[in-house]
Order: sequence, then C-alpha cells, then structure tokens
Amino acid sequence: MPAQIIDGKAIAADVRNQVRLNIEKRVEKGLRAPGLAVILVGLNPASQVYVRKKREACDEAGLLSKSYDLDESTDQQTLLDLIDKLNNDASIDGILVQLPLPEHIDDTLVLEAIHPDKDVDGFHPYNIGRLAQRMPTLRPCTPHGVIHMLESIGETFKGRHAVVVGASNIVGRPMNLELLLSGATVTVTHRFTNDLATHVANADILIVAVGKPGIVKGEWVKPGATVIDVGINRLPSGKLTGDVDFEAAAKRAAWISPVPGGVGPMTVAMLLRNTLQAAEKHDSQ
Ligand code: GUN
Repeated sequence: MPAQIIDGKAIAADVRNQVRLNIEKRVEKGLRAPGLAVILVGLNPASQVYVRKKREACDEAGLLSKSYDLDESTDQQTLLDLIDKLNNDASIDGILVQLPLPEHIDDTLVLEAIHPDKDVDGFHPYNIGRLAQRMPTLRPCTPHGVIHMLESIGETFKGRHAVVVGASNIVGRPMNLELLLSGATVTVTHRFTNDLATHVANADILIVAVGKPGIVKGEWVKPGATVIDVGINRLPSGKLTGDVDFEAAAKRAAWISPVPGGVGPMTVAMLLRNTLQAAEKHDSQ
C-alpha cells in the first residue's frame, strides 16, 4: 500500500485560521493586533520568497507585519541598532531576521540581540535552553510545526524511535529536543555519522533536514514508518524537491510529507502562532 500523504498545507491552514480567529477576538476586546517585524538583508532569492510568504500570511491572519528590507551591504551595527529599536517598540511583539545573513554579519550576535520574549523564531539560546529543560516558551517554528503534523496523524511518540537526519541549529538540533519532549527515543545523525542507511532503517519516525536532494534513499525506509521531509531544494530545472527519494519512500512508508506542501507551510503557521503567543505575554506584563 502506498503511503498516506501528510497534507502540511491543510494542517497549516487550520493553524492560521485559529490564529486569525484569536486575533479577531483580541481586536473585539479592544486589544492590539500582534505586530511582527520581518527583517531581510540582501537579495537571496529563496529568502525573498520565504519572507513574502510570511508577510502575506500575517496580512491574511490579521497580524501587522512591518517590513525592513535592508541592502546587502548593511553593516552589522546598523542591524543591531534596528533590533534594539524594535526590542523597545511596544507595537512589535515579534522580530524575525531571515537567515542566512550576508557573510560579513555575525548571525549569532544578531540572533542573541533579539529580546527572548520577541524571538518568534525560537532561535535565541534562552528559548532553546527552555526547550532543552522541558519548559518551552517560544518554540522553533519548523521543529514545532513537524511535531504538530505528527500529532495531527495520531502519532503518540512514546516508545517510538525517531531518527533525525541533520543537526543544524535551525532544524536538526531543536527537532531532537522537541522529539525528546514528546517522549520519543531519538537518534540524530550528521555529517560525521557512519552508515546513514542503517540508522534510517531503524526509524519509526524519520525526519530529514539536510538540504541535499536524494540523500535518503527510499529503499532505506522502514516499512510502515512515518517520513517527514524538511528539505526544500530547487533543481536546475526549477522544480522544488525534498531530501528524500519520495517515490521509492512512499512505497514503504505508512505516512509521508511531500515537498512542496509539507513542512514549508507549517513553519509559517507556527511563526504566526508564536507571534500571537508573544503578544499575549506582552499584554500580561
Ligand atoms: N532560514 C531558513 N529557515 C528559516 C527560519 O525558519 N527562520 C528564519 N528567520 N530564517 C530561516
């Protein structure tokens, strides 16, 4: 039996709709619409697409998004000054700096400059630390979105072996923390791992976030596994594809997420949810 498709687009639309309804209620009560500052430095084409999607989703859900499109040559101090200004702006609940940044800017310094209460990407070491210690506050959007997708297909996590392929700061590492929090047993593989195929073959839940098309072969997938493909790669033909050999994996898995239409829309939906959460905390202070 071919795998069932996990429709990230539909699950994300539900989350966005919930956020929209919550914002409507806030506004009816006389509260502010949440405000999100979206900062893009330079002209990276993929980043431009992601940022446009984030801004459109804000408009649709009733959040106020403020755009800061900075020149590629913007110096680090200018960016830090802007973040400082936004940290102190009461109309802004969330600050998002789209990654990657140009090489002359230290992204660690920039991400740590964002106030943890406005860190709606969940990348600040404070928020990662809270997640690591089982007290999550603002959670990283993509890993949290993956958990939400898995919950929506009835995944129970406890007693299940999750394998995360890729150990990046944005996805693999926080994904490991999210899965631990959910009660799964977790293996993380990375560039120094020997015999990736054997690890993949042991996964009840397989999450792949590397950014290399076809790095996971379909025939490695355990029969009946759930496969979540976080990779978004543009082929020379212009076609978007994930990290998993989808056709072959779908013959073995019970559930699989497609690219596009899988994890991508979830990242945006969870960003909106985080911004609403940040606004609610902001109100109560
Ligand atoms: N670049 C790739 N993914 C992300 C993300 O989730 N947030 C930000 N800010 N930049 C990214």
